[in-house]
Amino acid sequence: MIHVAIDGPSGAGKSTIARMVAAELGYVYIDTGALYRSVGVAALKRGFDPANREQVEAMLPEIEVSLGFVDGIQHVYLNGEDVSEEIRLPEASMAASAVSALPAVRAFLFDLQREIAAKNNCIMDGRDIGTVVLPDADVKIFLTASPEVRARRRYDELLAKGNQVEFEPLLQEIIQRDYNDSHRAAAPLKQAEDAVLLDCSDLNLEQVKAQVIDLIHKKVGV
Ligand code: DC
Repeated sequence: MIHVAIDGPSGAGKSTIARMVAAELGYVYIDTGALYRSVGVAALKRGFDPANREQVEAMLPEIEVSLGFVDGIQHVYLNGEDVSEEIRLPEASMAASAVSALPAVRAFLFDLQREIAAKNNCIMDGRDIGTVVLPDADVKIFLTASPEVRARRRYDELLAKGNQVEFEPLLQEIIQRDYNDSHRAAAPLKQAEDAVLLDCSDLNLEQVKAQVIDLIHKKVGV
């Protein structure tokens, strides 16, 4: 099986790029953030504080998270219920961020990620794929962009959806999330030693996609 790991901070465009490359090469795209989001949603559904370690740990044996693919699109199920839409709500992002700092949650999701990878040629994106989940991945990419560029993209996206937003608070939120993700004790966001750093601050999607495909061809030879 061929495994491509794409890690990097929030808003660098990992999922868009991973999806485009997977479609082009016929690989399965696995969005691991969705798994953390579904555990966060499980906590919210129970009225728990997602940062409360005891409550979240006690909940884990009661939940089952699984992934399915409908027309090549990943769906995530929580105890059999499709929560793919729900996990995109802003409160789910915050809950995911809180539960992802808990080692028990990371351990809970580890096997699932490994099992899917074992059965498929895949592109998996997340924060710790190249460092923890798939340390032997054939290709590892650390995709990043400056906080200003990521905040600008998010700002444009929200404006296009008709939201009233200000740039500065978005930038501060991105800087804060980068800090949280890279300073947590459990599997912090960091570039694997053997990952290729791809800074896409000055590149468009097609250029990033071309570079990723080029890297895969060079490393895997297909
Ligand atoms: O990529 P995302 O925004 O959907 O991720 C949601 C949260 O899950 C984010 O706060 C980081 C966390 N996460 C993680 O800790 N490890 C991963 N492999 C993927 C996501």
